[in-house]
Amino acid sequence: MIDWQKIRSDFPAVENSTYLCTAGGGCLSAAAKKEIDRYYDEMHLQGDVCWDAWLARTENVRRRLASMLNAEPYEIAFLTTTSLGMNYAADLFNVEQEVLTLQNEFPSVTLPWLHRGYPVQFLPVQPDGGYDFDTFDLPAERHNRIFATSFVQYATGFRQNLTELGQFCEVHDLALIVDATQGFGVFPIDVKRDKIDILIFSGYKWAGAGYAIAPIFIRHELLSTTKLPAVGWRSSKMPYALRNNEIDFHHDASALELGHPPFPGIFALGGALQQLEEIGLEQVESRVHELTGMLHQKLDAIGAEIISTRDRAHRSGITMVAVNEPKQVAEALAKRNIHVSARGRGIRVALHFYNNEQDIEIFVGALAELTAAGN
Ligand SMILES: Cc1ncc(COP(=O)(O)O)c(C=O)c1O
Repeated sequence: MIDWQKIRSDFPAVENSTYLCTAGGGCLSAAAKKEIDRYYDEMHLQGDVCWDAWLARTENVRRRLASMLNAEPYEIAFLTTTSLGMNYAADLFNVEQEVLTLQNEFPSVTLPWLHRGYPVQFLPVQPDGGYDFDTFDLPAERHNRIFATSFVQYATGFRQNLTELGQFCEVHDLALIVDATQGFGVFPIDVKRDKIDILIFSGYKWAGAGYAIAPIFIRHELLSTTKLPAVGWRSSKMPYALRNNEIDFHHDASALELGHPPFPGIFALGGALQQLEEIGLEQVESRVHELTGMLHQKLDAIGAEIISTRDRAHRSGITMVAVNEPKQVAEALAKRNIHVSARGRGIRVALHFYNNEQDIEIFVGALAELTAAGN
């Protein structure tokens, strides 16, 4: 039996407010903070003499993440934003290839392709973010296309079935590029089983690792047969030889780290991953489902309209609730120290494993009062 209250105490931010905005930015765990503090203390007290130890720790985090994703360590690079990772992804293909994406994707999923001149087709989705593969009109004779999409959609919370998506992409000869920012840290991901070519996520939301860390997985065959989109001294096979007039790059994903690694973010991620492993991702997933189910019930009881899907197979930690004036409602809630995000025609409520039943009651009670008052 997991003691969720004890785990919650590792996240003091959720005691300081009713924190329902992990989809905007998550809380930093005590485990992640400990690793960041350790790094800054070492640097503060010893300067750079710990460099080798930091590199070794970086490789530990890489192995840990690779095993969580069912990837190889040499397929993982530590970048700082998903936006950067998606730009690298777009540089690994050919601008003549057609890109398919969904109508409601986060801009960083689509803009890097548009910016480079790829033909991009936006496929329609329903208001809850769901879609049916059968409605896509994909001419069978067109090969070599790309599907760039999110695991969990940022504004509706719709979670894709990556296994079905991977099979669909295989049948239609589509490279599969996934932004897992709104799903990693709650739902298990298996890049091999689901035939994912590239997967990127930012660590500051559901992963609980704070800013400036966004790992990217790149299927090894893809990187080893393509020109590196960017290089630096650590892209060289022998970085410490510091040769500046000779090209001899390795093709591990870490070549894309280019220079000194973003240590604080990497170590924070290491702490957060360790905690996720200790709790167990399956337990995290079922806790988020349990809380989200309770939220839906309580919203039904006050007659609120839920825009997100209720289908457990596609639900995530995000629930969109329709309100008349999203921005005003979010601001009025913030005045009561309840934090959600205004998005589209509603407010986005995010529940992670560190939330609890009381958070839901406080929020739904406040929403009922505000909507009764005409908001
Ligand atoms: C789906 C998705 N991807 C990426 C990001 C953030 O990307 P970045 O790390 O480039 O800021 C967000 C932020 O809201 C998001 O919702």
